[in-house]
Amino acid sequence: MTVDRSVVCLLTESLTPPEMKSSRRSFLKTGTSALLGFPAILRALNPNSTLQIAGVGCDGKGYSDLAEVGSHPKSKFVGFCDVDSNRFAKIDQKFPGVARFADYRAMYAKLGSEFDAVVVSTPDHMHAAIAMEAMRQGKHVYCQKPLSHTVWEARQMRLQAAKSKVRTQMGNQIHSAAEYRTAVRLIQDGVIGKIKEVHSWQRNPGNGYTKLVEPPASGSVPENLNWDLWLGVAQKREYAPDVYHPFKWRDWMDFGAGTMGDFGCHILDPVFTALGLGSPLTIAAENEGLNAHTWPAAETVRYVFPGTKYTLGSSLNVTWYDGGRLPDAALARMPEGTPLAKAGSIFIGEGGVLMLPHVGMPVLFPVEKFASFTIEKQPAANHYHAWVDAVIGGHETTDNFAYAGPLTEAVQLGNVATRFPGVALKWDAAAMRFEGRPECERLLTRNYRDGWEIKAVV
Ligand SMILES: NC(=O)c1ccc[n+]([C@@H]2O[C@H](COP(=O)([O-])OP(=O)(O)OC[C@H]3O[C@@H](n4cnc5c(N)ncnc54)[C@H](O)[C@@H]3O)[C@@H](O)[C@H]2O)c1
Repeated sequence: MTVDRSVVCLLTESLTPPEMKSSRRSFLKTGTSALLGFPAILRALNPNSTLQIAGVGCDGKGYSDLAEVGSHPKSKFVGFCDVDSNRFAKIDQKFPGVARFADYRAMYAKLGSEFDAVVVSTPDHMHAAIAMEAMRQGKHVYCQKPLSHTVWEARQMRLQAAKSKVRTQMGNQIHSAAEYRTAVRLIQDGVIGKIKEVHSWQRNPGNGYTKLVEPPASGSVPENLNWDLWLGVAQKREYAPDVYHPFKWRDWMDFGAGTMGDFGCHILDPVFTALGLGSPLTIAAENEGLNAHTWPAAETVRYVFPGTKYTLGSSLNVTWYDGGRLPDAALARMPEGTPLAKAGSIFIGEGGVLMLPHVGMPVLFPVEKFASFTIEKQPAANHYHAWVDAVIGGHETTDNFAYAGPLTEAVQLGNVATRFPGVALKWDAAAMRFEGRPECERLLTRNYRDGWEIKAVV
């Protein structure tokens, strides 16, 4: 491929943020020496490029994230990071010979300009620290849902992605599934008219993996686990077996985000996409089983969003239920006795109801009204490959942080509201304030462990 250097220089200045200019050497391995030394966004235009990727969190969802991203013909892994040395076994077998690290900071320093992008699949409390540092270094990011552990982190991740001009994708892969894409199309085509209200639910309790209400007695840390690195931004606490690592961290406020955080970014995603939602105006919640350490067993979170061109009136009520709480099934206008799915959303329109199970094809009610209507199934996209393609092709993904940031803010605002049960919080999104409720604002962020603070984007 020949490159016109004058064009390259012009584009370099206009498209490259300053922090990316020092880490260009191998952004994409083109095999074309003329391209070496030029920025990501330019090399990304070369169709022969290979994307050099690091992975943080290598088992659990991390394994499937890496397997999926690695199945793209232009992906190449250059580093794997996990704080538990036992958790490399599967990924090593699938992609042998990739350098391993326990600390993402050491991996970033060692790989330097030899990596272009990172896949972040750790527990929620570490998403922002790992992704923000990568973006600051000009790396593209695929990050698991919920994008962040707090409202403030979601805001910072959106701002940093924009500032660094990197390609991003949140890991709620069902965003790209045929089922959700079909529902979005039906709503936006006006098949049930303008939307009057939405009800979304997930039956899981927020503390069901451990059923604990406070940290248990400590246990000795297994040799394979670096507990200090696992804790990362969180305050020190003693390790205990089978209550945090792996997977069960979800129950704990310090690490996970309960059922709202686990499923909100999945189930509210088609609601956000279909209706073009952004920041809520108000949030109010009630729950059962709230305590100082783990998420409530069950909750209801009521959002009011500003209306959009897809909604009826100037505002839209969206209600979230979890832990066995459910919307009134009669709202769905399903045939008598039809049970609600384990999880999903009911979109109530002027001209009918769209029931969207998580994950299933949308169904329109009442049956008689839509008996002769054929739902055209939209094609699925590959959520993981879409990110790699966006980096290489220099275009946007549909689930980038400009979209996923506000979605995650809304989800985490629900987690703030649930800790002030019965209080209607009026949200000033621009100022990140709750009108007249400054005492609730402390939960928009967290208390970072010394040395693990995340720098705000300036
Ligand atoms: N999109 C989905 O459908 C989906 C499904 C499951 C999980 N998730 C998300 O994926 C993430 C991981 O969840 P999981 O269930 O796999 O958790 P897990 O605890 O089972 O696995 C996390 C992995 O990351 C490693 N790890 C932990 N802290 C680390 C750190 N600081 N640096 C490097 N590695 C670290 C762990 O050792 C482990 O291998 C979460 O954010 C979760 O919400 C998404």
